[in-house]
Amino acid sequence: VLFVNGIPTSEMSTTDLLNINHADGLKLFVARGQLGRMMVYAAHRLGVRMCVLDPLGESSPAGQVSELSIKGSFQDAEKIRELASKCDILTLEVEHVNAQALEELHLKGVPVQPLPFVVKLIQDKYDQKVHLQKHRIPLPDFLKVDSEAELHEIGEKFGYPMMLKSRFGAYDGKGNAVVSDAASIPAAWEKLGGKAGKKLYVEKWAPFKMELAVMVARGVDETMNVTMRTYPVVHTVQRDSVCFTCLTPPVGVTQKEQELAQKIATDAIKSFGDARGIFGVEMFLLDDGSVLLNEIAPRPHNTGHYTMEACGVDQFEQHLRAVLGLPLGDCHLRVGGAMMVNILGQGSTPELTAQTMAPLRCALRVPDAGIHWYGKDGCVKGRKMGHITVTGFTPASALEQIRPVLKAVDGEGN
Ligand code: ADP
Ligand code: NA
Ligand code: MG
Repeated sequence: VLFVNGIPTSEMSTTDLLNINHADGLKLFVARGQLGRMMVYAAHRLGVRMCVLDPLGESSPAGQVSELSIKGSFQDAEKIRELASKCDILTLEVEHVNAQALEELHLKGVPVQPLPFVVKLIQDKYDQKVHLQKHRIPLPDFLKVDSEAELHEIGEKFGYPMMLKSRFGAYDGKGNAVVSDAASIPAAWEKLGGKAGKKLYVEKWAPFKMELAVMVARGVDETMNVTMRTYPVVHTVQRDSVCFTCLTPPVGVTQKEQELAQKIATDAIKSFGDARGIFGVEMFLLDDGSVLLNEIAPRPHNTGHYTMEACGVDQFEQHLRAVLGLPLGDCHLRVGGAMMVNILGQGSTPELTAQTMAPLRCALRVPDAGIHWYGKDGCVKGRKMGHITVTGFTPASALEQIRPVLKAVDGEGN
């Protein structure tokens, strides 16, 4: 099995790259790699060998634990072909890859899952939404926008606030700008590179009560008929647009609302034809109980980490089973509830690194806590460095158990 993995440095401007090394410019660029690492762990349990393509090669989070690694960008067609030459099947842990190269390999008969057309579709958030709209998936209203003047017109129509978004390369809120009123249009346009010709679109504000997420697996049975499995609903809370906590089952969400979220997520993934793998589906729950789809990731997802401690088969193994054409595993909760918290880097000084790790030390004393450290080479501010999942008899007890860890994340003594 081969997968394309790493950091989208190829998509960064020189200024962006320089910013990473500056204390105040610490943007959330270098957040990937952990999904591949956890996929490798799952592969080893299944007796599958992995080769990783990552800009950091064997010192990347996934490369540290895989049998083989190639150092290179996953935008580099040559490197992707080299990867393909060493593998039986190609998969990925990030959608910002050279989909064209994957498409060409696929046409030559190299198995790639999820299918390159889905990766390509999802890469363009606007095209993704057009596709989902065609398949009658409920979404916030959205429109393509090519100028500030057009954005003004849309503002009249959608009302304020509205959300301006980058079509390509976005993650962890990096490609979003809130347009709070007409006066803030120039700043939002500037922030997302509208002036520089970056492709943007705009969404009507979704006045959500909660953000929900559902993982959906799509595989095949022995006769190559599609099989699907859906994981439980998660309540996900973002901080500064980065996933902070996930709680399952979600408290204060009715059974009906949960079933609706699972149905919308499943319907959305059904629209991807024969594509296999696991998909993370982000949604908004509104006050009236309706659910709108926000976006889809064609890979394991932060909101599915809890499955490692809480479900029959976790999202990483499920992804491999789906991609390899093995029977899908059980998605049900084995516990009454689970809560996950992300550990984001606080800074690279020894003091800030120690502070970043404080919640992990705290979690060592919490019963039923799963501790995950990703082995990234620098404790950069805002970078996803690890996560902790605590399970319990109920979601409330998981929440109670994880409380000291949450306090440690916020720098409070335990
Ligand atoms: P990313 O790829 O960075 O995760 P998202 O489109 O998921 O981008 O947006 C990040 C966060 O911004 C969401 O999790 C949500 O909190 C908020 N958001 C996104 N779209 C909207 C919207 N239309 N209305 C209100 N909030 C939104
Ligand atoms: Na390795
Ligand atoms: Mg998102």
